[in-house]
Amino acid sequence: MSLKSISIPRPDDWHLHLRDDSILAAVLPNTARIFGRAIVMPNLRPAVCTARAAVAYRSRIEALIPEGSNFTPLMTAYLTDATDPLELRAGWNDGIFSAAKLYPAGATTNAEDGITDILQLDNVFEMLQELSMPLLIHGETMNQQVDIFDREAVFIEDTLLPLRQRYPAMRIIFEHITTNEAVAFVEAADENVAATITPHHLMLNRNDIFKDGLRPHYYCLPVAKREHHRRSLRVAATSGNPKFFLGTDSAPHLTTDKESDCGCAGVYNAATAMSCYTQVFDEEQSLDKLAGFASHHGPDFYHLPRNTETITLTRAGTLEQPPDIDINGGKIRQFLPETPVHWHLIHEQPQ
Ligand code: DOR
Ligand code: ZN
Repeated sequence: MSLKSISIPRPDDWHLHLRDDSILAAVLPNTARIFGRAIVMPNLRPAVCTARAAVAYRSRIEALIPEGSNFTPLMTAYLTDATDPLELRAGWNDGIFSAAKLYPAGATTNAEDGITDILQLDNVFEMLQELSMPLLIHGETMNQQVDIFDREAVFIEDTLLPLRQRYPAMRIIFEHITTNEAVAFVEAADENVAATITPHHLMLNRNDIFKDGLRPHYYCLPVAKREHHRRSLRVAATSGNPKFFLGTDSAPHLTTDKESDCGCAGVYNAATAMSCYTQVFDEEQSLDKLAGFASHHGPDFYHLPRNTETITLTRAGTLEQPPDIDINGGKIRQFLPETPVHWHLIHEQPQ
């Protein structure tokens, strides 16, 4: 008999974009009512590079957490060519930074100030390794000669493998992985390496981006790959391997910025992510592995306590497309795949 409902410890989101100002105010409640904590990405404009900027951003987030929610934002440092390792150490020791984020320069939204040459960052890597502070990596080569669908696999060979050799004790989270090569890299590495997996990369392959026409709301970076890569991600996520855990990469953009000549990368999935993940685990007959992926492996890797509250999802009719989120007249589209999702969150707010 298949399950009709499932309760798991309250999950955390180990990769989240909240933005700022009116978008922050509009999207934060969807995350805060479901997830206990979230690793908040620092790719604002200007980027969150210093502990001081992170404290200010954290205060702006905390001011908007809905009453009754005990959501905790965990802040990250945006690495640039000029990052001072002492700034990382101070922010880490003061409990302000939970991780550092490496964007190859130009890799994605607001990544212009990212790293131009990873080989020049030794003082930063030495500090991260010494502190055991996690390094979160957007893993795509910025060599524009490389086909966009190969950029993750090439990054592993060109950058990640040499980096691991030079800093074997550095703790790395390979973010939003999209390929069989990334799964294999993480599986083969020791306990210092983990990866996050998004709901959309578990549900979409690259055909979906072009099905019956161009689908800008399925466009994100790294871009979804071939079906066999999606299959590998599903196997990894549902395997029970503690190296793989939940990170939505929920990344809101106004529909006008996505449906444009040069559309932005990002899928906004905060409200639907838990339904989608549960659907995937159900389809893979692995609902018994959902709590590990969503609620245990992440805090274990970050050396943080697991959440004690629970959430419950029930299987019922097909989830309907949630309404766009209104931002001062602008809109944000919420992610839902075309394939049916049957799981509904019922205990959203811990009692
Ligand atoms: O699709 C993406 N959107 N990928 C990223 O890495 C960044 C994100 C964003 O900030 O919009
Ligand atoms: Zn992201």
